Amino acid sequence: MKNLPNMKDARKRTSETSKEIFLSNNKSNKYKGNKYYIRTYGCQMNVHDSEEISARLENLGFIKVETIEEADIVILNTCAIRENAHDKLYGFLGRCKHEKEANNPNLIIGICGCMAQEESVVNELMKHHPYVDIVFGTHNMFELEDMLLNKMDEQDIRVYSKEGEVYENIEYKRDSNIKAWVNIQYGCDKFCTYCIVPYTRGKQRSRHSKEILKEVECLVKNGYKEVTLLGQNVNAYGKDIDDISFANLLEEVAKTGIPRVRFVTSHPWDFSDDMISTIAKYDNIMPYIHLPLQSGSSRILKLMGRRYTKEEYITLFNKIKNTIKNVAITTDIIVGFPGETEEDFNETLEVVNTCKYDGAFTFIYSPRENTPAAKMEDDTPLKVKEDRLHKLNELVNKYSKEANLKYDNKVVPVLLEGVSEKDENMLMGYTDTMKLVNVKADKKYIGEIVNVKITSVKSWSMDGEMVNE
Ligand code: 5AD
Ligand code: SF4
Repeated sequence: MKNLPNMKDARKRTSETSKEIFLSNNKSNKYKGNKYYIRTYGCQMNVHDSEEISARLENLGFIKVETIEEADIVILNTCAIRENAHDKLYGFLGRCKHEKEANNPNLIIGICGCMAQEESVVNELMKHHPYVDIVFGTHNMFELEDMLLNKMDEQDIRVYSKEGEVYENIEYKRDSNIKAWVNIQYGCDKFCTYCIVPYTRGKQRSRHSKEILKEVECLVKNGYKEVTLLGQNVNAYGKDIDDISFANLLEEVAKTGIPRVRFVTSHPWDFSDDMISTIAKYDNIMPYIHLPLQSGSSRILKLMGRRYTKEEYITLFNKIKNTIKNVAITTDIIVGFPGETEEDFNETLEVVNTCKYDGAFTFIYSPRENTPAAKMEDDTPLKVKEDRLHKLNELVNKYSKEANLKYDNKVVPVLLEGVSEKDENMLMGYTDTMKLVNVKADKKYIGEIVNVKITSVKSWSMDGEMVNE
C-alpha cells in the first residue's frame, strides 16, 4: 500500500471541529515472543507516542529489547524539527540495514514520526532505502497492527497529510510508573515561519476535558506522582472545542490530588493572567515554566510570525516572576534566522541579560521544507551563526549556573525517580523547579517526594542528600 505525504494538504485548515474517534485496540498472538526495539528522537510528544507504539506492539505479542541485534522489528520514531535530526536518522538506518543484510534478513524495519510526514523523506526512502519495510505517519499510528498482521513484501507506506482526528481509548506502555505524560492537545495552528510542526502534526485539536481528567484520575489511582500535560501550545487548550480554558483544566487536574502537575509547551501569545494565578494558587502545580523566546528582536519576531514583541514578552515574563513564588523559567532561542543582523542578535543577548533564565535550549536556524522562512533570503555565513550560538551559550550557562547556585545548602523537595545514571549508589530526581539532583538516599524511597539538602552545585545538575525534615 502506498499512501504518500503531501505537504500542501498538510497545511490546509478548515473551520470544522476535529472528530473524536474511540479506538478498539487490536490484540493478537501472531508475533508472540518476537522482540521489538524502539528508538525515539525529538520532543516529549514523540517520547509519549513511542509509549503508544510499544503498547500496540505488545498487544501483538512483541517483547521489548534494548539492542537491534536482539530485535525482530526495529521502529525509529523520528523528529523533523532541524536538519541534524535527518542526519541522525540516516546514520542509524545504516546500522539497521547492515544488521538486516549481514545477520537477520527477516528483520522488519519501520519508520514513523514527523519525518515520515515529509514528502522528500518518503521519496528518499522509496528510492534509496527499499529495505525499510513500513512507514507510517503521525496520523496513522492506529494502522500499525494492520501493517504487521498483513505484512507485504513491498514497502508499505501509510501517511495521511490532513488536519487530523482526536483518538480516545489509546493504550500506553508507559516508561515510568512514577510520572506520566498526558496529551491534552495535538497539532499546532501557530505556523511560526521557521517551523515544520504544523505540517507534520496537523491542526491544533484539544481532547475533551472529561477524557483528560478520566486519564489523570486513573493515574492517581495507580499511584503515579506526577503528570505532565502535553501540547504544542497548551495555553490555547480548549478553544477549538469550546471546552474549559487551560487555566480551568490545570485547576481540575490539580484537584485530582496528583502530587505534581507540569505542562509543556507554553506559547507567550495565549498565556493568560488566570493561568498565572492558578499556577500560583495550587501547591501541586509545579513552579516551572518553559516560555520560548526564539528571538529578542521584535523585527525578527515579526518575521518569525511569533505574534509578540520583545516588550510584550518581557512584561509577561515579569508578571510570571512576580506572581509565582520561586518560579523557574527556561526558554528556546534560535540564532541566525534569515536576515538576523548583529544588532538583532545583541537584542537577544539583552533579553537574556534581563530574564536571567534558569536554562535555555539554543539552536542555529535550520531551513525546513515548505515553510515560509525557507524561502527567505539567508545571507549570514554559517561561521557567524556559530559564533553567535557560542556567545549566547556562554551567557545562558552563566545565568543557569547562577540560578543553580541559589540552591546550595538549601533543603528542597525532590521526587526520586530511580538510580542515578552516573553513580549507581545514588538516586536521581527533580526539584519542583525541574532541577536534576543526584541524591544519596535509600532505594526504598524511589517514587517518593523527599526533602533533600543540596551539597554541591554543578553546571547541569546538583548533588544532595536526603534529610528527615
Ligand atoms: N530551526 C532551528 N530551530 C527550530 N526550532 C523549531 N524549528 C526550528 C528550525 N527550523 C526550535 C524552536 C522550538 C524548539 C522546539 O525548536 O526554538 O521552540
Ligand atoms: Fe512550531 Fe510555532 Fe507551533 Fe511551536 S508554536 S510548534 S514553534 S509553529
